[in-house]
This record gives sequence, structure tokens and C-alpha cells, in this order.
Amino acid sequence: MTTIAIPKFSYQAILNDAAKISWRVEDLIGSNQQLDFTKPFLPEAIAHTQSISCLTPDEQLTLNHIRGNSYLHLFGLVEEFILPLVVDHVQSIGCGNIQAAQAYLGFAEEESKHIHLFRQFAAAFEAGFRSHCGVIGPPKAIADFVLQHSSLGVALMTLHIEWMTQRHFLESVRDNRREQLDPQFCSLLKHHWQEEAQHARLDTLMVQDLAETLDAEAIDAAINDYIAIIQYLNTGLKAQVQLDIASLEQAIGRTLSAKERDEIQQIQERSYQKTFLSSGMTHPNFMQSVQALSSNGHARIAALATSFS
Ligand SMILES: [Fe+2]
Ligand SMILES: [Fe+2]
Repeated sequence: MTTIAIPKFSYQAILNDAAKISWRVEDLIGSNQQLDFTKPFLPEAIAHTQSISCLTPDEQLTLNHIRGNSYLHLFGLVEEFILPLVVDHVQSIGCGNIQAAQAYLGFAEEESKHIHLFRQFAAAFEAGFRSHCGVIGPPKAIADFVLQHSSLGVALMTLHIEWMTQRHFLESVRDNRREQLDPQFCSLLKHHWQEEAQHARLDTLMVQDLAETLDAEAIDAAINDYIAIIQYLNTGLKAQVQLDIASLEQAIGRTLSAKERDEIQQIQERSYQKTFLSSGMTHPNFMQSVQALSSNGHARIAALATSFS
């Protein structure tokens, strides 16, 4: 058995915090709450459009909106593999620890609400944007690929995403007075973060639970699974950059030269990798969970993260 750090989080404390958060999708988007296309949807620290020299400021804003749309779809699709992971975990723990069962059921219910949230924002985007934007998928095919891997490998990928979501809001949106971002998108990131704060702690406990029954070889296999999922997502993110460039050309009504496409591709591939891969892989709390499982795995993930940052 692998030595696991003593859990810092309690199910009761998580349930208490979850009970303080209460919002509905209808409170955040729809009726008189619409996206403001005169403002950026994502902070520059996430979208990285302003350093693209071949685009005018208006075109950079359009690419920011396209990145906002892909953010909605990418989160929507990762939630589609997180939900079955959590539902399976609830079934495996049963009713012995009823606080744990209640907390994980809340986790699953919130993730299904988040899928609805991202879909409603995506519908508002589609209704207000001048042209259709391509996105990778379909989500089920991506979820099916991810869920072929071990539960611990998928739980590590989920833990990465939970901490990454918090980093996006806390480091780039909350207290951001430099940028005038669309209020609806800020509200989305804030409300998502509020519930992800509980999910990150629950997933930390899930990773510990799953690892307790595994030997070192099985833990190494789970780390391999996590890295395989990261590489798979990296390929998907590169495909998304190509779709974004096509969407940008259509929206701005001009064909980009090969040199312009190259510049956008280089900056945007690095941006997607930083936003969705290295920001989770290097989060201190994620790395602490990995270190508790395997020093070798920790070193391998840290080395891979440097290639994405
Ligand atoms: Fe979520
Ligand atoms: Fe979550």
C-alpha cells in the first residue's frame, strides 16, 4: 500500500460550505441578462489575443469572443466525463459514510447544473455572434476516450480541472481592475468557482480513497493514464486553435495570410496549453496530491508541465 497524506478536508465542512452556495442557471443568463459583445469575455491572461500583431484591436476582441465560446464548450465537455466519474464513486462508497455519499451526490448534481450553465451561455453566444464557430467534439466521444482509463487517472485529471477552474477566477478575474470584462462572463466564472471550491476538496478525498486500495504499480499506471489524457487533450486543443482561426476569418471577413495564420497559431497554441494544461498541472494543491501518491509521478508531471508553460 502507498503511504497517503492524512486528509485535510472533512465531508461535514464541505457540506456546510456547499449549503451556503445557492444559484440557478436562470439567475446568470437569459431574459435581460445577455452577453455584451462590446467587451472581452475572457481576461487577457486566459485568452492571450492582444499580443497578436497581425490583428487590429477589433479583430483581437473578436478572437477573444471566439475563445470565450471555446471556453464554454471545453468546460461543457470535461464536465461530461467528470459527472459519470463522481456517480460511479458514489455507488462504490455506498451508505457507510453517509456524509461522504451526500457530499458526492451534491458534487454530481452541481456538475450536471454546470453542463446546463455552459450550454445556456453557448446558446447565448450563438444567438449574438455574427457567424458560427467550430468546436472540437462531440463531447461524448471525448468523454468515452477519457473514461477508458483507470478511475484514479480520471480522478487526477478531474482534480487538475477543479483547481485550474479556481485559478482562472482567483488569479485573472477577481480583483481585475485593469480590464472591463463582460459582466455575464465574469459572473459565470465566479459562480462556477464557488462550487468548484467544494469539488476540489472532494476530489482530493476521492483521489486518496481510490489510491488507498492500489499498490505502487497501479499508482504508476494511473499517473500514466493522467499523462495520456493530458496528451490527448493537448491534441484536441491544437485542433481547436485551427477551428478558431477559421472562425476568426469568417467573422472578420478576410482571409489571413500564411504568415498571419502562423503567428496566431503559435500564440494561441501556447495560450490554450497554459490556460488548460500547465495551470492545472502546476497548481500547488494538485501537485501536493500527486506527491503524496508518487515522487516519480510528481517529477514526470512537473517536467511535462514545463513544455506547456
Ligand atoms: Fe463544474
Ligand atoms: Fe467541478
